[in-house]
Amino acid sequence: MNKDIESILVNESELDALTERLAARIDEDYRDTGRPLVMVCILKGSVMFYVDLIKKIRRPVEMEFMKVSSYGAGTASSGCINLHLDLKRTDYPSLDVILVEDIVDSGRTLSMLTALFRERKVHSIATCTMLDKPSRREVDFAPDYAGLSIPDKFVVGYGLDYNEYYRDLPYVGILKPEVYTNH
Ligand code: IMP
Ligand code: MG
Repeated sequence: MNKDIESILVNESELDALTERLAARIDEDYRDTGRPLVMVCILKGSVMFYVDLIKKIRRPVEMEFMKVSSYGAGTASSGCINLHLDLKRTDYPSLDVILVEDIVDSGRTLSMLTALFRERKVHSIATCTMLDKPSRREVDFAPDYAGLSIPDKFVVGYGLDYNEYYRDLPYVGILKPEVYTNH
């Protein structure tokens, strides 16, 4: 285990089961829609989860990417969300869209992005997150698909970072608090 990790919160086989479970639910809910299903990866944090999830969805999906940032360096949200990369499409009304996130914390990112897709008049908009920290909510938001609710601990790995590090770990682990309190 990485020396900066206090303990593993979700191991590789649990992540595999989690993505399998969510993929099966999405398959069930979007079966025979006759519309394109656009899975939007919210970069960078959700990339590992996204790839594993869409590989397990059996119906065809389209891949799209958005990049947002709310956090500067550190472990608390700045409350201000920047959109760095967006979709460029003209067929929004014919699309079912699912936004795929790594973790829901304050709820600001997904509630802002959901509102954006509503303005674009997509046929439907839903959200899927690997992890949820419901105790941290600052806005009224509930994801449609959530892998696991976790306590208020700062976690890294499997896409999640602290100052851009630890994204490459194959598991989700709790970061030792001394790593972020010492500077
Ligand atoms: P929200 O807008 O406050 O819900 O923030 C969601 C974003 O905050 C996520 O996409 C992550 O990038 C980041 N975030 C929240 N909690 C954690 C954590 O424990 N570890 C790493 N990133 C986190
Ligand atoms: Mg993120």
